[in-house]
Amino acid sequence: MDFNQGCVSYRSMPFWCVGSPLSDPFGGAVLDRIDSLEVAKLIAWAGKAGYVEATSFHDDDLVPWNPEQPEDDLDPDSDVSKKLHAIKAVLDQAGIKFHAATCSLHGNKIFRDGGLCNPDPAIRRLAAKKVERTLRIGQFFGAKYYVYWVARDGFEVPVITKWGHVYDFLADGLNHVTDYIAEKKMTNYIGATIEPKPNEPRGQMFLPTSGHAAGFIFGRLKKPDFWGVNPELLQHESMALMNASMTVAYLCSMNKLKFLHFGSQIKAQFDNDFPPLIGPEGLKETVMMFKTLNDIGWKGVIEYDCHMLRAEGNPEDDIACRKQFIINCVTALSMVLKLAERVETPTGYTSQSSADLLSIRQMCALGDIDPRR
Ligand code: GLC
Ligand code: MN
Repeated sequence: MDFNQGCVSYRSMPFWCVGSPLSDPFGGAVLDRIDSLEVAKLIAWAGKAGYVEATSFHDDDLVPWNPEQPEDDLDPDSDVSKKLHAIKAVLDQAGIKFHAATCSLHGNKIFRDGGLCNPDPAIRRLAAKKVERTLRIGQFFGAKYYVYWVARDGFEVPVITKWGHVYDFLADGLNHVTDYIAEKKMTNYIGATIEPKPNEPRGQMFLPTSGHAAGFIFGRLKKPDFWGVNPELLQHESMALMNASMTVAYLCSMNKLKFLHFGSQIKAQFDNDFPPLIGPEGLKETVMMFKTLNDIGWKGVIEYDCHMLRAEGNPEDDIACRKQFIINCVTALSMVLKLAERVETPTGYTSQSSADLLSIRQMCALGDIDPRR
């Protein structure tokens, strides 16, 4: 089951977006936390209704993790195995594909000073074990990608940061992903990605932008062809004042744009994770990003990475507002695809500004404008 419209092969709606209880640093959850099987049912509903084709997850979104039992998934009688089977049954039945598996190295307080780059070797080993378990869970679901989101690998205090080692820790942690895939002969993964972010939850993160991520892949990873980047646009790159068209064009030029995380953002703010097109800015940048992808001829997966506005969470009906959130996300994507199609690259123009205004008229279907009195 594919979507196949414009540059989008299929649309993925992850567990953490649908399940988000909408807490922020100033207030607790607005919505009840729903069980992962309930989230699976919502995603299955969206699949059957024709809204999405795929999903993604962090290990922790699906099943709890107990550091004392790092291989509980291998025991078919464990609660973890049973839960994973139940989730898979619901999603398979709806024809939902599994796009990506991410190891959460940010949620558990053990990883408060980092996961793969934690200064304590025992915690780095624990992180590696958790990554292995996530890779096995991804294999069970047939996930296409493994994703490393930079998460808590970062710093606040430069004077104690092990600058001579952190990027070695990171290379070891990421090379372990491909070693483990090879060792276990996993055939489901067609690639792995780095998802950069400049800050939050750490004061500074070790791979802040797509440029940093791409450079690290070429410079430090054993299997650079297997690895790529999934930029989060507009959000993560906008936090660092980068532009979305430039980011996708740069990554495409190096064949490193594996897929996109998609949502909206106010430039230079914290990670808003607004649904696509939502909020006071970003419409033009989003449309131009899709025009850029069309011009380049990129085709791939758009994965939503956002949550509904905290203000629109409805504690009285936490299922209905989650369904509306999914509908809003996919509606926004269809709108953007239409708007991007309308914009033509001008062949002749009197000034760069007049070309820009023409593209806005096309995008908004305004026709000719006569500004005279
Ligand atoms: C995922 C996302 C990232 C997000 C994190 C926490 O890995 O890609 O952007 O912030 O999960 O939910
Ligand atoms: Mn993301």
